[in-house]
This record gives sequence, C-alpha cells and structure tokens, in this order.
Amino acid sequence: MNKFMVTTAIDYVNGAPHIGHAFEKILTDVLFRHFKQRCDKTFFLTGTDEHGIKIQKTAATMGIEPKQLCDENSQKFKDAWALLDINYDKFIRTTDEQHKKIVQEIFEKLLKKGDIYKHKYEGLYCSGCESFLSPKDLDENGCCPIHGKKPELVSEENYFFKLTKYKDAIIKYIKENPDFIMPSFRANEVLNQLENIEDISVSRAKSNVNWGIEVKSDPEQVIYVWIDALSNYITALNYNPNGESGENFKTFWPANFQIIGKDILKFHSIYWIAILMALEVELPKTIYAHGWITIDKNKMSKSTGNVISPKTVMDAFELSEPDAFRYFMCVSAPSGKDGNYSDEDFKERVNADLANNMGNLLNRSLNMLCKYFDGNILEEHICENILTASSMNAIAKVKAHFDKVEISEAASEIINIVDEANKFINDNAPWTLAKEGKMRECGEVLYSIFDLMCKVAILIYPYCPNIAANMAQQLKIDINMKLDELKPKMIKAGKLIEKSEIQPVFLRLDSEFAVKK
Ligand code: MSP
Repeated sequence: MNKFMVTTAIDYVNGAPHIGHAFEKILTDVLFRHFKQRCDKTFFLTGTDEHGIKIQKTAATMGIEPKQLCDENSQKFKDAWALLDINYDKFIRTTDEQHKKIVQEIFEKLLKKGDIYKHKYEGLYCSGCESFLSPKDLDENGCCPIHGKKPELVSEENYFFKLTKYKDAIIKYIKENPDFIMPSFRANEVLNQLENIEDISVSRAKSNVNWGIEVKSDPEQVIYVWIDALSNYITALNYNPNGESGENFKTFWPANFQIIGKDILKFHSIYWIAILMALEVELPKTIYAHGWITIDKNKMSKSTGNVISPKTVMDAFELSEPDAFRYFMCVSAPSGKDGNYSDEDFKERVNADLANNMGNLLNRSLNMLCKYFDGNILEEHICENILTASSMNAIAKVKAHFDKVEISEAASEIINIVDEANKFINDNAPWTLAKEGKMRECGEVLYSIFDLMCKVAILIYPYCPNIAANMAQQLKIDINMKLDELKPKMIKAGKLIEKSEIQPVFLRLDSEFAVKK
C-alpha cells in the first residue's frame, strides 16, 4: 500500500464536542496512526459541518450571528482534538470559502447534467437529521426514531437529486464489493434501505433557511446540508468538477476508509455514493459505521443532562495525557457495536491493562536488569523463544484486524501477548534463577520480555502514543519505526538503562469519578 486516506464525519457545531464525537475521532486517529506505520503517504481529514436550520435556530436563540456560533464551537472541536492528540492533516469547515465555491460548482455540474431538477414538494422535515423523512420512517407516535421529535411539514419548491437513477448501480456495487460497507453485517441494512429510496431534496428555499451555500444560478435557494456536508471529503482535497483537481485529490482520493456513525450510514453509503457516481468520481474503498457510546448505559442527551466531554473525564482523573481515555474508547465496543462509558469501567480497564499488566511488566523487568546486570544486556542473553513467535504472530494478527477496522479486537491481541509475557516471567521466575546463580537463564528471561515489549510499544503506539513513546525511550528503540521493521532480537548487547532512567509507564487511576452521582 503506498497511500492511505481516512476521513471522519464532520460534526455539527450547534453544541460542544462530547465523548460520542470523541469516540469516532479517536477510532479514526488510531486507525490512521496504525496505517502510518505501514505506509508513507497518508492523509487524515476531519472538520465541522456548519450550515443548516439547526445552527440557524441555535444562533437565533442565543441572539448571535450563525457565523459567530460556528467560529466559537468549531474552535471547541479543534481544542478537544488537540487535547486527545488527534493527529489530523486537515480540519475542514463547511464555511471555508474554498469549500463553498467548489460545492456551488458541484451543484451546477449536476444541474447541467440533468441529475438535479426543480420540483414542488411537500414533506416532513426533521431538523435533527437535517433530512426529509417519509411517513414510513416515523415511529408509532409519528416522531423521528432517532431524535424522538415530530418532523415539521414543509412545503416548498426545491431542487431534487435523481437518486433513483443510481439505485441499481449502487446495489450492484455493494453486492460486488464485500469490503465496501464495514462491518459486513451493515450491508444488508443498506440494501434494504435502497429498496425504498426516492429522489432527494438537495436545496431549501432561502426564505425558510438562509444559513447555507447559495445555489449559484438561483440565489433564492440554498444548498441543503447533506450535499454540502458530504462534498467536504473531496473539496478538502481541492477537487475540481470542471477541470484538473489539486495534488491532494490526485494523490489521496479515493479514501481508504470513511469512518462514520451508524446513524448516518444511509447518507454515506447511498447519497454520497450516488453523488460521486453522478460526478464520475472514484468511490471510497470502505465506509465503516461504528456504533454509539452510551453513558452508564443511557443514551447521551442534553435533556437527560448526561452529556460529558472528553475534557471532563481527563480533568476528573487528573490526566495530563489522553492515552488512557483513547485506549478505553477503543476497547469499549467490539467493532461496529455500541459501547458504554462509565467511570468505574474506565478506571478498572485502564488500571488492569495499562498499569498492572503492561506498565508493571516493563517496570519490574527493567528493575531486575539493573539489579542483576547493572542495566546491561549481555550477548549470551540474546535469544528467541515462545514469546518471539507470539509477538511476531501478533503483528500479523493486529494488521489483519486493522484491515477490517477491528480496533478493539486488535487491542486484545496486543494485551494477549502482554498477558502471555506476564505468565512467562512468573513461570520462569528470574528472581529465583538469580538467587540460584543461574545468571544466563535469568538474563534470557529478561531479554525475551524486553524484546516482546519492543513489539508491544510499537503496536500500542496508535492507541497510546505518549505511553508508547515512554516505553520506546526506555527500550532505546525508535517509536516512529514502521511495522515491517519489527524483527526478532531487536535489542542488541550493551547498556540498556540506568536505574535512575526507569520511569513508570502508566500510573494507576485512583482519582474521583468524572460523573458526579
Ligand atoms: N454533520 C453530520 C455528519 C456529516 S458527515 C458528512 C452529523 N454530525 S453530528 O455532530 O451529529 O455527528 C457526528 C458524528 O458523531 C457522527 O458520525 C455520529 O454518528 C457521531 N456520534 C454522535 N453521537 C455519538 C455517540 N453517542 N456515540 C458515538 N458516536 C456518536 O451527523
């Protein structure tokens, strides 16, 4: 693989980021950092979705201009991602001039092609989804099943996109490309939704919604949020619908993975794909839908008052680095399934995996190396054994999981070899070997732990970049190593560490809980 691109959904800015938004950005960042270990040219795109009726209304309620609300809240997302070490290459805002200009051109192109047409329409609009719903989408109370609110009856003359024209091509594409929708159990859901699709409204009358991108050839209409929002994935790369696109588009498109939540899969695997087909642009390789994070098993919602931000968690546990939170978000849900955050689970899991299991193993092994060998690795300690095989196998398993966006499952593979190493050191008891004067055997046991921990540090790096860098520093390896460079017997003979250089890898969390009961 010589290039890799990943995108996230772009978040609405009518509120501040919460741990659900963070979950997606962390999963994507971990995936990205892993593929950076396998590939030289990489691009990670994220950003904020800033137009539409919801933002217009929120700003009006606050008595401020929509742009001011967008500027303030978009910055909150950037700040949160900085706090969580989200290593994106570009943060797009749909209010960026370049984005707006390209979206207008995309719209005009589809209009000219006849894939967009004007049509008088009456429909039920859910401002939560920023989408028209058909009566069969509603629950038994006539409400949107996702937002629990009654949609508004809207009657206007709008532009429509001929989604139905692309129905058969999309069905064929999904059936022929089993990796296109991940996890695969979601593909049937999309195929079912495709059965009932209709052409979709892609603009709103300016008299009803004015916070949006104007249709160039008809300024009384604004381009409705989904065509605006979805296009971000290519406007950010400087796609040009009428000529030569920018270098980034040529290098990175199509994206390898587009990471989104299960609630917006339909927009990505149907609407977005049809738009790309209409523009004759290559399709992304995989659309991956993650599940949702609940808090203490409850849906997060402003009305329940249980929305928590990543910063709340970090502050409550006095974390100066985001590694533990990143790790927990990744392991909180099996691939594509819903996960849950609770303070108790968070604390228990990271204390067990990162502090007791991984951190203590390295710490006590380094201390023994200092105690018995003055921190030196001797030529006679260098060996291969069962741990070498396990750690080399783990690399292949981790890669295979990441190919399927199985981020939680990949983490389990890493923790499994740490467990195995803990068992190995307890079974072989280097402290007893030293007491018995079996120094060569004692050194071999410690060596095999360090050699395994080199692999662990590099493999855990995408999840816990700071902890991994700390481990790498103590093991004297380069944290920016590619996965292909991981080999048996990476540690050479010589001084590994001074006692004074040994640092704990991760301190147990014992602070107060984040959610005050
Ligand atoms: N703006 C649209 C996406 C446009 S993409 C071209 C949107 N924004 S959102 O702010 O409502 O959601 C952004 C992402 O966060 C979505 O992928 C959504 O699934 C995800 N999540 C929002 N709440 C979440 C949880 N509680 N848990 C996990 N992910 C959640 O949709």
